[in-house]
Amino acid sequence: MDALSYLTGFGGHFSTEAMDGALPVGRNSPQRPPFGLYAEQLSGTAFTAPRHENRRSWLYRMRPAAQHGRFEHYAGNPLFGGGMSDAPLPPNRMRWGPVEDSATGTDWLDSMRTMMGNGSAERMEGVAVHVYAADRDMVDRVFCNADGELLFVPQQGSILLATEMGRLDVPPGHIAVVPRGVRFRVMLPEGGAKGYVAENHGALFRLPDLGPIGSNGLANARDFETPVAWFEDRDAPTQVVQKFLGRLWQVTLDHSPLDVVAWHGNLAPYRYDLARFNTMNSVSYDHPDPSIFTVLTSPSESLGRANADFVIFPPRWMVAEDTFRPPWFHRNVMSEAMGLIHGAYDAKAEGFVPGGLSLHNLMAGHGPDRASWEAASRADLKPHRIDGTMAFMVESCWPYRLTDYAMARAQDDYDSVWNGFAKAELPR
Ligand SMILES: [Fe+2]
Repeated sequence: MDALSYLTGFGGHFSTEAMDGALPVGRNSPQRPPFGLYAEQLSGTAFTAPRHENRRSWLYRMRPAAQHGRFEHYAGNPLFGGGMSDAPLPPNRMRWGPVEDSATGTDWLDSMRTMMGNGSAERMEGVAVHVYAADRDMVDRVFCNADGELLFVPQQGSILLATEMGRLDVPPGHIAVVPRGVRFRVMLPEGGAKGYVAENHGALFRLPDLGPIGSNGLANARDFETPVAWFEDRDAPTQVVQKFLGRLWQVTLDHSPLDVVAWHGNLAPYRYDLARFNTMNSVSYDHPDPSIFTVLTSPSESLGRANADFVIFPPRWMVAEDTFRPPWFHRNVMSEAMGLIHGAYDAKAEGFVPGGLSLHNLMAGHGPDRASWEAASRADLKPHRIDGTMAFMVESCWPYRLTDYAMARAQDDYDSVWNGFAKAELPR
């Protein structure tokens, strides 16, 4: 495949055309767009959202998206969406092993399994965490999520996202975000892929404020990449599967809907290489709050209280003096879903493996396991580089509920990693 081209920046206003002259100049909706294309606005925020939050793009396509028949229930994947378990959710800490393989010949869409979620697609707040394990390209079909934007976190194998607004190559170590409503196909250039998807029902992901850090740092805007326009001119039956209010629906078109020849605007898919994260950390003492590692944030309506934060634990130097350097014990009013892309996470000696997942809902006591605590409590505090690892967290102000699928697969011995801490010896 040809090398893909990208436009750089975060949330900027892009203009791109896959054919010279396809993009109208000077107006969004001319009486007759070039080549007989149809003009269509795709909104990511309400029309009246404040200007600095307003996100929308204009698409110029071979047929209007409105041209489709009636959606019918799609029964191909009951594990994607479909609601959380009715069983009482215990306040236990939860952990899962690596993503299980799907049956041979399963594409990304049919391999998606919802693990946990909160809020509501209908109320447009909250976040869900899904996993996938696919070994087949999506063929003659596309997916569309009306329930929120999708943040892809590949763990094994690149994925190629062929979207209405261009193509993105997303290897492990990169993330990608596809906006609500944008139709796409997931291709597997390496033949197979596993990973995680965070589904954000709430306000669009954005870069966090930097406060006293200043005008640079963490994820820098220039490192986000949005694809150039690309389209396929294909008159063949194409199934559109759409998730709407947690259920899957399907309709078949007589053409590919990936027929956007040009677009402009500030709502578009993007990818980001996590290796470009400019990591901040303590150079004196104490481990900062993990919010220092926030890549993207979706705010709730309460200031400083995230609907969802996407946070990473990247390679970094640890130099803090007289400090317990791994993440400390804590009980958090926020709820934390964690995954591991590769390597080892510094607060867990074993059991939290690449492709695995853990959940520490609000007020669950957690932190280093006993082996990590013992090692870090005795470590010689020379400068030390944590290397060869990338863990991530989807932290939310709403507690996560689990699906029946996740409930049935949670490890039953996770609590034991915190067994056996010796009692503090007070002076007599
Ligand atoms: Fe935590």
